[in-house]
Amino acid sequence: MDWVPEFYSTTGRWWAPALAAVGEQERARAELVGRICGPGPYRILELGAGYGNTAAALAERGHQVTAVEISDRAEHAERHAGPRLRVVHDDFYAVQLPGDHDVVCYFNGFGIGTDADQRRLLRRISAEWLRPGGHALIDVMNPFVWARWAGDREHRDADPARGYAYTVDERTDFDPVHSRYTDTWWETDRPDDAITQVGRCYTPADLMLLLEGTDLAVARLFVDGIELDLDGDHVGHAPLLHQAHEYLAVLRHTAASAAQTRRSQPVSGR
Ligand SMILES: C[S@@+](CC[C@H](N)C(=O)[O-])C[C@H]1O[C@@H](n2cnc3c(N)ncnc32)[C@H](O)[C@@H]1O
Repeated sequence: MDWVPEFYSTTGRWWAPALAAVGEQERARAELVGRICGPGPYRILELGAGYGNTAAALAERGHQVTAVEISDRAEHAERHAGPRLRVVHDDFYAVQLPGDHDVVCYFNGFGIGTDADQRRLLRRISAEWLRPGGHALIDVMNPFVWARWAGDREHRDADPARGYAYTVDERTDFDPVHSRYTDTWWETDRPDDAITQVGRCYTPADLMLLLEGTDLAVARLFVDGIELDLDGDHVGHAPLLHQAHEYLAVLRHTAASAAQTRRSQPVSGR
């Protein structure tokens, strides 16, 4: 995972003037947190917070937010910092944070590293950061759509008026054995300095297997903001098969719910 700070710092340098601002997507995420968890306000931990746009949108809604980001994008996030938003420029595998969050979010980033790395992160969420009964909201990369993008190339001309100062190229690929995407970018006139992000994709069924032993379980799934019926039949489900490169998994803390169930059961013999 050594590539992570360099990849996101470099792409952050290319795109921050265009992207480091709260926009529609971040406000929609903040609204979705309210739809899923109720209005709050909550103590929210956002992992891999990038430029801090979503953290800022959540803080605007009155939540108390801690945003963790390893790359230089954290410097942009720090511009949003204030009484309701704390930015931690660090690695979420190493950083020590207070626990007891009502919500832990990881938007558009889960899957970096091995399955063991994902489990390590999921266990930190359940054991250290998420309060009993809280929700973890995690975007998960969807293998069906990443596989369709295998071999795609894209050229993007600079568009300084919109904040894109660099002309860049992208090549996307997919490893169907390990269910991993590779996404390589370079400045068009510097192909030798290409940088690549690599990520694990999980079908919903694979995610459920990954979660075994983590004290977290899938409670709800959303594709493009629309909830899937977990008990339904999804044969031919076009958004997952063809459209959405990621879906949102809402995880519940199973250890906590077991404890709550025990507490709510009548205690015999007293
Ligand atoms: C694809 S970006 C998404 C950023 C933001 N969540 C969003 O949706 O705009 C993934 C982010 O996760 C960050 N990240 C990846 N691994 C991390 C780690 N171990 N600790 C902290 N941040 C990490 C990256 O630096 C990057 O900014």
